[in-house]
Formats: sequence, C-alpha cells, structure tokens
Amino acid sequence: MTRGKLILIEGLDRTGKSTQSEKIVKELGDEVVLFKFPERSTPIGGLINQYLTDRSFDLPPQSIHLLFSANRWEVNAKICSLLESGKHVVLDRYVYSGVAYSAAKQIPGMDISWCLNPDKGLVKPDLTLFLSNQDSSSLQDRDGYGEERYEKAAFQKKVRETFFQVFDAIPDDNRVIVDVTGKSIEQVFDTIMPLVRKVLGNNSEDYLYF
Ligand code: TMP
Ligand code: MG
Repeated sequence: MTRGKLILIEGLDRTGKSTQSEKIVKELGDEVVLFKFPERSTPIGGLINQYLTDRSFDLPPQSIHLLFSANRWEVNAKICSLLESGKHVVLDRYVYSGVAYSAAKQIPGMDISWCLNPDKGLVKPDLTLFLSNQDSSSLQDRDGYGEERYEKAAFQKKVRETFFQVFDAIPDDNRVIVDVTGKSIEQVFDTIMPLVRKVLGNNSEDYLYF
C-alpha cells in the first residue's frame, strides 16, 4: 500500500484556510483526515487557547512558541499512523505558521532558526499551499476579526513579511504561493484542487522532514 500524502494549507488569519481545507476534505471524502493547528482540544492546546483568547493570561514569547510546537508533537504520532495506513492528511496551519508568527515578534535571539528548532523532525508536507491575500483591508471586515491575540492589522503585516523570510530560509520544492486577492471561494478552490489531485496521484514513498 502506498502511504497517504500530507497537504498543508497555510496563510495569515482570515485568508480562507479553514474554508478551503474543509472543501478539500468534503471533495475527497473519507480517504482524507483534517487536522487544524493549534489543536485546541488537547492539554497543551487548552493553554494555547487561553493565551489566544484571554489577555490576562500572558506567557513569555519563548514559552508560547514552544507550546505551539509541543502541540504539533502531541498530534504527530496520530498523523504519521494515518499516513502509514494510506489515509491522506490535510493540515490547516503547521510549522510555517509556528515559525512566522513567533519570529515576527522580533524578540532578540528568537530568530527563524531558533523558532524552527523544536519542530525539526516533523514530517514535511508533500504539498504546501500558502494562501496570500495582498489586500489587508479585507482583514478588518470579517465577523469576529480582532477578537484573538495576533488579529491586529499591524502585526499581520509583520507576519506576512516574516512568512516570506521563512520561505527563503526553509527550502521546499513542494510549496506554492496562491494569490487569493479578490478571488471567490470557488475560484480559489478551482485553483488549488488540481494541485492537490496531482500530489495525491504520485506514488512517492519517502517522507521528508523539517
Ligand atoms: P487559528 O486562527 O488558525 O486558530 O490560529 C490561532 C492563532 O495562532 C493564529 O493567529 C496563528 C497563531 N499560531 C501561532 O502563533 N503559532 C502556531 O504554531 C500556530 C499553529 C498558530
Ligand atoms: Mg484565527
């Protein structure tokens, strides 16, 4: 049996990642399992959720960074066993968000390399789709936006720049930047679904790792 493929949907807040991830899973049915990071239902995920939603619950940037990474390791065995069993896995955020959001804080010593270290050894996706929205004014329009920590236009702008620095620092031939500016949900889906199908169709057995 060929192993399943790992597909990652990345991007800033409110770029349609969750919508597209869910549409991919709906399209492909039960050969695919979806995971979203942070996975807030685990013990570590509960702490992360509190940090994101409760301003009175503060943590040093290094600590919350390590918790986001630890949260991926909490779920890693499950993802690996699904891939081994031949199921495809779709991820809504993963290592790139982990590195970009933390490095964007520009804390001395917390550079991209420091931020990537705790994620080293996680499986690298067979396809990463970075949904890129160049019109940040659309960020303010959506319901509920601005409620969580990091959902501030100025910080999102820094994160956006940092994502591209992270992409320069972490080589990945399987990463595609998808410009979603001004595009409808269906237009974005029609762009990415053929890329997903192409990756699912190749029978590479080797895993790549961060
Ligand atoms: P979400 O909006 O996709 O649920 O993610 C919550 C926030 O957490 C979002 O602003 C991005 C941020 N984040 C990190 O800072 N580090 C990480 O490793 C991940 C997965 C998300
Ligand atoms: Mg969010």
